[in-house]
Amino acid sequence: MRDVTIENVTELVIASLGRQRPIAPRAREILEALIRHLHGFCRETRLNHTELLEACAFLGRAGAGGREEYILLADLLGVEVLVDMISNPVAANETISTVLGPFFRENAPVMPKGTSTVQQGFEGQETVYIEGYVRDPDGKPLAGAIVNVWEDAPNGLYENHDPDQPDYNLRGRFETDENGHYAFRAIRPVPYAIPDGGAAGELIRFMGHHGMRPAHVHMMVSHDGYRRLVTQIYDSSSDWLDDDSVFAVKEALVGEFRRAPEGADTDLVLRYDFVLRRMDQAR
Ligand code: BEZ
Ligand code: FE
Repeated sequence: MRDVTIENVTELVIASLGRQRPIAPRAREILEALIRHLHGFCRETRLNHTELLEACAFLGRAGAGGREEYILLADLLGVEVLVDMISNPVAANETISTVLGPFFRENAPVMPKGTSTVQQGFEGQETVYIEGYVRDPDGKPLAGAIVNVWEDAPNGLYENHDPDQPDYNLRGRFETDENGHYAFRAIRPVPYAIPDGGAAGELIRFMGHHGMRPAHVHMMVSHDGYRRLVTQIYDSSSDWLDDDSVFAVKEALVGEFRRAPEGADTDLVLRYDFVLRRMDQAR
């Protein structure tokens, strides 16, 4: 191994895998593909040393000071949505998934059906009653499913990025009733810019793209014996549906925020039903 060349370096590195101690088959599979693709990338772009050092410094900035922006970088490059689609192939009648994103928080308050996630309102906000059914692929209602929801405020910020909002504002977990029905009150989400003050912002500018996301409500739906569904419901009237910075919009996830009927206690209503995949259902 004293005569490394452009031609043999890739195979030399791959041959080093597991030479000193056994490695797991999955680690071998991932590392071998990673080495081949990285080497291919360097050859294709004729990457120079200055660019390599710039890339290393950029990745350092992405992780510095607890920022942990790697998932945002993956989103901006379409990697999170690709991984999600590979991991969650969907049959015709199942609800399609999309990216989790970086704003999910565990332990959102468990709230009675129909209550509001709005702890602190905003001037001029539109309220919405969101409801629907959770079913299995045969149409059987799933009682006791948990619908975990979170969304941004009218200022475009999620509560955990906004010191002026109460803890867990616009977040909640709701259980479906015996008919598989869930319901809660919330506000109309707005389009927002993903945080661009760090490495993600650098990448956005480097790409000549933007960091806007169309208005959406995040929904995570789970029930024992079924695959947990992570998805987002988009407002059909929102800007950016056709140019989402993280490529996560799917037509089947676009919902209608309709005017509420006379006498309702919200401005709008949104109906969205979910179909979960059984855990044992083969693909
Ligand atoms: C979100 O939907 O909250 C999100 C997803 C990817 C990147 C940034 C935000
Ligand atoms: Fe979001």
